[in-house]
Amino acid sequence: MKRRALLAALPASFAAGRALAQTWPSKPITIVVPFAAGGPTDLMARVVGERMAKELGQQFVIDNTTGAAGTIAVGKVARAAPDGYTISIGHVGTHVANGTIYRNLTYNLLTDLEPIARLPANPMLVVSSDQLRAATLKELVELLKANPDKIPGGTAGMGSGSHLGALAFFAATGARFQLVPYRGTGPAMQDLVANQIQVMVDQSANSLPQVRAGKIRAYAVTARARSAAAPEIPTAAEAGYPMEISIWHGLWAPKGTPPEIVARLNAAAIATFQDPDIRRRMEDLGQDIPTPTEMAPAAFAAFHKEEYARWAKILEAANVKVE
Ligand code: MLT
Repeated sequence: MKRRALLAALPASFAAGRALAQTWPSKPITIVVPFAAGGPTDLMARVVGERMAKELGQQFVIDNTTGAAGTIAVGKVARAAPDGYTISIGHVGTHVANGTIYRNLTYNLLTDLEPIARLPANPMLVVSSDQLRAATLKELVELLKANPDKIPGGTAGMGSGSHLGALAFFAATGARFQLVPYRGTGPAMQDLVANQIQVMVDQSANSLPQVRAGKIRAYAVTARARSAAAPEIPTAAEAGYPMEISIWHGLWAPKGTPPEIVARLNAAAIATFQDPDIRRRMEDLGQDIPTPTEMAPAAFAAFHKEEYARWAKILEAANVKVE
Protein backbone atom coordinates (compact mmCIF):
# COMPACT_ATOMS: atom_id res chain seq x y z
CA MET A 1 0.00 0.00 0.00
CA LYS A 2 1.47 3.45 -0.93
CA ARG A 3 2.67 5.56 2.03
CA ARG A 4 -0.07 8.20 1.50
CA ALA A 5 -2.77 5.51 1.32
CA LEU A 6 -1.31 3.83 4.42
CA LEU A 7 -1.34 7.11 6.37
CA ALA A 8 -4.92 7.74 5.21
CA ALA A 9 -5.93 4.27 6.38
CA LEU A 10 -4.40 4.64 9.86
CA PRO A 11 -7.12 6.80 11.45
CA ALA A 12 -9.81 4.44 10.06
CA SER A 13 -8.14 1.34 11.53
CA PHE A 14 -7.53 3.19 14.81
CA ALA A 15 -11.21 4.19 14.96
CA ALA A 16 -12.24 0.62 14.13
CA GLY A 17 -10.08 -0.68 16.98
CA ARG A 18 -11.62 1.77 19.44
CA ALA A 19 -15.14 0.92 18.30
CA LEU A 20 -14.38 -2.81 18.70
CA ALA A 21 -13.00 -2.21 22.18
CA GLN A 22 -16.13 -0.31 23.23
CA THR A 23 -18.40 -3.33 22.66
CA TRP A 24 -15.85 -6.00 23.69
CA PRO A 25 -16.46 -8.64 24.97
CA SER A 26 -19.84 -9.25 23.40
CA LYS A 27 -19.36 -13.03 22.81
CA PRO A 28 -17.33 -15.89 24.36
CA ILE A 29 -13.54 -15.67 24.31
CA THR A 30 -11.56 -18.74 23.17
CA ILE A 31 -8.29 -19.75 24.81
CA VAL A 32 -6.39 -22.03 22.41
CA VAL A 33 -4.48 -24.62 24.47
CA PRO A 34 -1.57 -26.29 22.62
CA PHE A 35 -1.73 -29.55 24.57
CA ALA A 36 -4.25 -32.22 25.54
CA ALA A 37 -6.73 -31.78 28.36
CA GLY A 38 -5.53 -32.86 31.77
CA GLY A 39 -2.02 -31.44 31.53
CA PRO A 40 -0.48 -28.41 33.25
CA THR A 41 -1.14 -25.98 30.40
CA ASP A 42 -4.77 -27.07 30.19
CA LEU A 43 -5.06 -26.68 33.98
CA MET A 44 -3.60 -23.15 33.81
CA ALA A 45 -6.01 -22.28 30.99
CA ARG A 46 -9.01 -23.46 33.01
CA VAL A 47 -7.93 -21.60 36.16
CA VAL A 48 -7.35 -18.42 34.18
CA GLY A 49 -10.42 -18.81 31.96
CA GLU A 50 -12.81 -19.41 34.85
CA ARG A 51 -11.66 -16.39 36.85
CA MET A 52 -11.20 -14.03 33.88
CA ALA A 53 -14.76 -14.88 32.81
CA LYS A 54 -15.96 -13.47 36.13
CA GLU A 55 -13.82 -10.36 35.74
CA LEU A 56 -14.96 -9.67 32.18
CA GLY A 57 -18.54 -10.93 32.43
CA GLN A 58 -18.09 -13.18 29.42
CA GLN A 59 -17.68 -16.94 28.99
CA PHE A 60 -14.23 -18.38 28.17
CA VAL A 61 -14.08 -21.45 25.91
CA ILE A 62 -11.12 -23.88 26.09
CA ASP A 63 -9.96 -25.14 22.68
CA ASN A 64 -7.39 -27.95 23.01
CA THR A 65 -5.64 -27.84 19.62
CA THR A 66 -2.85 -30.42 19.90
CA GLY A 67 -0.04 -31.63 17.66
CA ALA A 68 3.52 -30.72 16.67
CA ALA A 69 4.42 -29.74 20.26
CA GLY A 70 1.97 -26.85 20.21
CA THR A 71 3.01 -25.20 16.94
CA ILE A 72 -0.40 -25.88 15.34
CA ALA A 73 -2.23 -24.14 18.18
CA VAL A 74 0.06 -21.12 18.21
CA GLY A 75 -0.22 -20.73 14.43
CA LYS A 76 -4.00 -20.81 14.75
CA VAL A 77 -3.93 -17.80 17.09
CA ALA A 78 -1.25 -15.94 15.11
CA ARG A 79 -3.61 -16.09 12.12
CA ALA A 80 -6.81 -15.35 14.06
CA ALA A 81 -8.65 -12.04 13.82
CA PRO A 82 -7.08 -9.48 16.22
CA ASP A 83 -10.45 -8.84 17.88
CA GLY A 84 -9.83 -10.10 21.42
CA TYR A 85 -11.95 -13.23 20.98
CA THR A 86 -9.11 -15.70 20.35
CA ILE A 87 -6.12 -15.83 22.70
CA SER A 88 -3.17 -18.17 23.08
CA ILE A 89 -1.90 -19.80 26.24
CA GLY A 90 1.52 -21.37 26.17
CA HIS A 91 4.88 -21.45 27.79
CA VAL A 92 8.63 -21.31 27.40
CA GLY A 93 8.42 -24.33 25.10
CA THR A 94 5.63 -23.30 22.74
CA HIS A 95 6.34 -19.55 22.70
CA VAL A 96 10.15 -19.52 23.06
CA ALA A 97 12.03 -22.78 22.34
CA ASN A 98 9.92 -23.67 19.30
CA GLY A 99 11.05 -20.46 17.62
CA THR A 100 14.59 -21.88 17.53
CA ILE A 101 13.85 -25.59 17.17
CA TYR A 102 11.35 -25.46 14.28
CA ARG A 103 12.99 -24.10 11.14
CA ASN A 104 9.80 -23.63 9.11
CA LEU A 105 7.31 -22.11 11.54
CA THR A 106 4.56 -20.20 9.75
CA TYR A 107 4.69 -17.40 12.31
CA ASN A 108 7.20 -15.32 14.28
CA LEU A 109 6.79 -15.71 18.04
CA LEU A 110 8.17 -12.24 18.77
CA THR A 111 6.30 -10.21 16.13
CA ASP A 112 3.04 -12.04 15.27
CA LEU A 113 1.67 -12.11 18.81
CA GLU A 114 0.72 -9.45 21.35
CA PRO A 115 1.85 -10.32 24.91
CA ILE A 116 -1.10 -10.06 27.31
CA ALA A 117 0.22 -11.30 30.66
CA ARG A 118 2.99 -13.39 32.18
CA LEU A 119 1.51 -16.26 34.24
CA PRO A 120 2.98 -18.39 37.08
CA ALA A 121 6.12 -20.50 36.66
CA ASN A 122 6.76 -23.90 38.11
CA PRO A 123 9.89 -26.02 38.49
CA MET A 124 10.04 -29.56 37.13
CA LEU A 125 10.25 -32.87 38.95
CA VAL A 126 12.28 -35.87 37.86
CA VAL A 127 9.72 -38.63 38.34
CA SER A 128 9.33 -42.33 37.59
CA SER A 129 6.68 -45.02 37.70
CA ASP A 130 6.54 -46.66 41.13
CA GLN A 131 7.73 -49.94 39.54
CA LEU A 132 11.14 -48.65 38.47
CA ARG A 133 14.06 -50.18 40.38
CA ALA A 134 15.68 -46.91 41.50
CA ALA A 135 15.29 -45.44 44.96
CA THR A 136 17.40 -42.31 44.47
CA LEU A 137 18.36 -39.96 41.64
CA LYS A 138 21.83 -41.52 41.67
CA GLU A 139 20.34 -45.01 41.20
CA LEU A 140 18.05 -43.70 38.44
CA VAL A 141 21.01 -42.19 36.61
CA GLU A 142 22.97 -45.45 36.95
CA LEU A 143 20.00 -47.48 35.68
CA LEU A 144 19.56 -45.17 32.67
CA LYS A 145 23.28 -45.21 31.88
CA ALA A 146 23.21 -49.01 31.90
CA ASN A 147 20.30 -48.88 29.41
CA PRO A 148 21.00 -45.84 27.18
CA ASP A 149 17.93 -44.59 25.24
CA LYS A 150 16.06 -47.77 26.17
CA ILE A 151 13.89 -46.91 29.16
CA PRO A 152 10.79 -45.11 27.78
CA GLY A 153 10.19 -41.57 29.03
CA GLY A 154 7.30 -39.22 28.24
CA THR A 155 7.40 -35.79 26.60
CA ALA A 156 4.83 -33.65 24.83
CA GLY A 157 6.90 -33.50 21.66
CA MET A 158 10.02 -31.69 20.42
CA GLY A 159 10.23 -28.26 22.05
CA SER A 160 7.67 -28.99 24.75
CA GLY A 161 8.45 -28.18 28.36
CA SER A 162 8.91 -31.86 29.17
CA HIS A 163 11.28 -32.17 26.20
CA LEU A 164 13.34 -29.21 27.46
CA GLY A 165 13.31 -30.85 30.89
CA ALA A 166 14.58 -34.10 29.39
CA LEU A 167 17.38 -32.26 27.56
CA ALA A 168 18.38 -30.51 30.80
CA PHE A 169 18.40 -33.88 32.59
CA PHE A 170 20.52 -35.50 29.87
CA ALA A 171 23.01 -32.61 30.02
CA ALA A 172 23.20 -32.65 33.84
CA THR A 173 23.52 -36.42 34.30
CA GLY A 174 24.98 -37.81 31.07
CA ALA A 175 22.13 -40.35 31.20
CA ARG A 176 19.43 -40.61 28.54
CA PHE A 177 16.00 -42.16 28.31
CA GLN A 178 13.94 -42.94 25.21
CA LEU A 179 11.77 -39.94 24.24
CA VAL A 180 8.14 -41.02 23.73
CA PRO A 181 6.02 -38.12 22.43
CA TYR A 182 2.43 -37.53 23.61
CA ARG A 183 -0.17 -34.86 22.85
CA GLY A 184 0.47 -33.53 26.33
CA THR A 185 1.84 -34.56 29.70
CA GLY A 186 -1.70 -35.23 30.89
CA PRO A 187 -1.87 -38.42 28.75
CA ALA A 188 1.83 -39.08 29.40
CA MET A 189 1.17 -39.01 33.16
CA GLN A 190 -1.59 -41.61 32.76
CA ASP A 191 0.93 -43.93 31.10
CA LEU A 192 3.54 -43.22 33.77
CA VAL A 193 1.10 -44.17 36.51
CA ALA A 194 0.26 -47.32 34.51
CA ASN A 195 4.00 -48.10 34.08
CA GLN A 196 3.63 -47.94 30.27
CA ILE A 197 6.49 -45.45 30.38
CA GLN A 198 8.91 -45.29 33.28
CA VAL A 199 10.34 -41.77 33.60
CA MET A 200 9.58 -38.13 32.93
CA VAL A 201 10.83 -34.63 33.71
CA ASP A 202 7.52 -32.90 34.24
CA GLN A 203 6.09 -29.69 35.63
CA SER A 204 5.46 -29.85 39.37
CA ALA A 205 1.85 -28.76 38.79
CA ASN A 206 1.27 -32.00 36.86
CA SER A 207 3.38 -34.39 38.91
CA LEU A 208 2.91 -33.31 42.52
CA PRO A 209 -0.69 -34.58 42.83
CA GLN A 210 0.41 -38.04 41.61
CA VAL A 211 3.45 -38.03 43.90
CA ARG A 212 1.26 -37.13 46.87
CA ALA A 213 -1.18 -39.93 45.90
CA GLY A 214 1.74 -42.38 45.98
CA LYS A 215 1.23 -43.31 42.32
CA ILE A 216 4.64 -42.16 41.03
CA ARG A 217 8.05 -41.50 42.59
CA ALA A 218 9.80 -38.12 42.67
CA TYR A 219 13.61 -37.99 42.80
CA ALA A 220 14.43 -34.32 42.49
CA VAL A 221 13.20 -30.83 41.76
CA THR A 222 14.94 -28.83 39.02
CA ALA A 223 15.44 -25.67 41.05
CA ARG A 224 18.15 -24.00 43.11
CA ALA A 225 16.16 -24.62 46.31
CA ARG A 226 13.57 -27.16 47.38
CA SER A 227 9.96 -26.23 46.63
CA ALA A 228 7.92 -24.95 49.59
CA ALA A 229 5.12 -27.13 48.18
CA ALA A 230 7.26 -30.27 48.48
CA PRO A 231 10.14 -29.70 50.92
CA GLU A 232 10.71 -33.46 51.11
CA ILE A 233 11.88 -33.59 47.48
CA PRO A 234 15.59 -32.78 47.19
CA THR A 235 17.03 -30.58 44.49
CA ALA A 236 18.90 -32.31 41.66
CA ALA A 237 22.02 -30.46 42.85
CA GLU A 238 21.81 -32.18 46.25
CA ALA A 239 22.28 -35.50 44.43
CA GLY A 240 25.24 -34.11 42.55
CA TYR A 241 23.45 -33.18 39.30
CA PRO A 242 22.78 -29.41 39.35
CA MET A 243 20.01 -28.54 36.90
CA GLU A 244 17.61 -25.60 36.93
CA ILE A 245 14.65 -25.30 34.61
CA SER A 246 11.35 -23.58 35.26
CA ILE A 247 8.32 -23.66 32.95
CA TRP A 248 6.56 -20.32 32.94
CA HIS A 249 3.20 -19.81 31.19
CA GLY A 250 1.81 -16.74 29.47
CA LEU A 251 -1.11 -15.36 27.51
CA TRP A 252 -0.88 -13.80 24.05
CA ALA A 253 -3.28 -12.30 21.50
CA PRO A 254 -2.88 -11.95 17.73
CA LYS A 255 -0.75 -8.98 16.66
CA GLY A 256 -2.91 -5.91 16.10
CA THR A 257 -5.38 -6.63 18.90
CA PRO A 258 -6.52 -3.18 20.15
CA PRO A 259 -4.43 -2.09 23.17
CA GLU A 260 -7.59 -1.32 25.14
CA ILE A 261 -8.62 -4.99 24.82
CA VAL A 262 -5.12 -6.24 25.71
CA ALA A 263 -5.21 -3.98 28.79
CA ARG A 264 -8.57 -5.36 29.93
CA LEU A 265 -7.42 -8.96 29.40
CA ASN A 266 -4.26 -8.15 31.36
CA ALA A 267 -6.22 -6.61 34.25
CA ALA A 268 -8.44 -9.71 34.42
CA ALA A 269 -5.36 -11.98 34.46
CA ILE A 270 -3.79 -9.92 37.26
CA ALA A 271 -7.04 -10.08 39.26
CA THR A 272 -7.02 -13.88 38.82
CA PHE A 273 -3.73 -14.24 40.69
CA GLN A 274 -4.69 -11.73 43.38
CA ASP A 275 -7.48 -14.14 44.38
CA PRO A 276 -6.31 -15.76 47.68
CA ASP A 277 -7.87 -19.16 46.89
CA ILE A 278 -6.24 -19.29 43.44
CA ARG A 279 -2.91 -18.18 44.91
CA ARG A 280 -3.09 -20.97 47.51
CA ARG A 281 -3.99 -23.56 44.87
CA MET A 282 -1.16 -22.45 42.57
CA GLU A 283 1.44 -22.31 45.37
CA ASP A 284 0.38 -25.77 46.53
CA LEU A 285 1.34 -27.04 43.07
CA GLY A 286 4.77 -25.42 43.26
CA GLN A 287 3.87 -22.39 41.16
CA ASP A 288 5.65 -19.05 41.67
CA ILE A 289 3.21 -16.23 40.96
CA PRO A 290 4.59 -13.12 39.20
CA THR A 291 3.80 -9.69 40.62
CA PRO A 292 1.26 -7.45 38.84
CA THR A 293 4.24 -5.39 37.61
CA GLU A 294 5.87 -8.50 36.11
CA MET A 295 2.52 -9.47 34.56
CA ALA A 296 2.11 -6.15 32.70
CA PRO A 297 2.14 -6.49 28.86
CA ALA A 298 5.30 -4.40 28.33
CA ALA A 299 7.20 -6.16 31.13
CA PHE A 300 6.05 -9.53 29.81
CA ALA A 301 7.13 -8.59 26.27
CA ALA A 302 10.61 -7.72 27.56
CA PHE A 303 10.78 -10.97 29.56
CA HIS A 304 9.61 -12.96 26.52
CA LYS A 305 12.39 -11.45 24.37
CA GLU A 306 15.05 -12.15 27.03
CA GLU A 307 13.94 -15.77 27.39
CA TYR A 308 13.83 -16.18 23.62
CA ALA A 309 17.47 -15.07 23.28
CA ARG A 310 18.58 -17.15 26.28
CA TRP A 311 17.00 -20.37 25.02
CA ALA A 312 18.15 -19.78 21.44
CA LYS A 313 21.78 -19.93 22.68
CA ILE A 314 21.13 -23.12 24.71
CA LEU A 315 19.29 -24.93 21.90
CA GLU A 316 21.67 -23.85 19.13
CA ALA A 317 24.64 -25.01 21.23
CA ALA A 318 22.87 -28.36 21.69
CA ASN A 319 21.96 -28.41 17.98
CA VAL A 320 18.30 -29.15 18.74
CA LYS A 321 16.45 -28.76 15.45
CA VAL A 322 13.32 -30.01 13.66
CA GLU A 323 13.66 -29.61 9.86
C1 MLT B 1 1.07 -29.94 28.89
O1 MLT B 1 0.20 -29.18 29.31
O2 MLT B 1 0.81 -31.05 28.39
C2 MLT B 1 2.53 -29.58 29.05
O3 MLT B 1 2.68 -28.18 29.24
C3 MLT B 1 3.29 -30.11 27.88
C4 MLT B 1 4.78 -29.82 28.02
O4 MLT B 1 5.47 -30.65 28.63
O5 MLT B 1 5.20 -28.77 27.53
